[in-house]
Amino acid sequence: MKTTKSLVICAGLLAAATVAALWAVPVEPAEPDRVGFPADYQAKYEVIRVSNRPKAVSLGTIYANERAASVKEMGQLPYPEGSVIVMEWAEPLKDSAGVLLVDANGLWRKGKVVRIDVMRRERGYGEAYGGKRVGEWEFASYKTDGSYFQPPAKPAACAACHQEAGAERDFVYRGRFPPGEGN
Ligand code: HEC
Repeated sequence: MKTTKSLVICAGLLAAATVAALWAVPVEPAEPDRVGFPADYQAKYEVIRVSNRPKAVSLGTIYANERAASVKEMGQLPYPEGSVIVMEWAEPLKDSAGVLLVDANGLWRKGKVVRIDVMRRERGYGEAYGGKRVGEWEFASYKTDGSYFQPPAKPAACAACHQEAGAERDFVYRGRFPPGEGN
């Protein structure tokens, strides 16, 4: 009887320890992150597109660093090495009755930023994604403090969906361009 009891206690302790350990483990991306959190993107990058994302009830703002922003026409594609494109997701602001606030252009007014998706293009990038590779882009998703977005988004899954944007658009759905067939 005594053994059963201590076994139960042991199992309980083990479960508690496992939960504690899982809790303490920081969220890491499945592949090594070579993208890097662009902490100063709001100050340093150019806003190349803003749109309401009705499905996610979110305001999407696309930012580009200088290299990515240098692509102004489709004929300039692919993006140069060192390009970084950010998709920022923000909760729209609401009035006291819960109605979403819009600006003069019909865009939702930006509230709290909840997620920062980043793609970076460098020479040789993308190999780790195997068949899901999209050119030389790698992907990562962050929270505003630079920690990884939860639940951990697998970067190869980002790439797999961006394959649909097509090689002719360098696997970038929009950037500053109007939507293509994949979007
Ligand atoms: C299910 C498909 C899908 C998945 C998965 C996905 N994206 Fe996208 N992504 C899109 C679409 C569609 C757009 C264009 C949105 C718009 O501007 O309306 C987009 C836009 C972007 C942009 C702005 C440049 C562009 O392509 O227009 C970045 C950066 C981006 N995604 C990064 C990521 C990252 C990082 C992940 C993984 C954490 C990810 N995406 C996962 C579909 C996807």
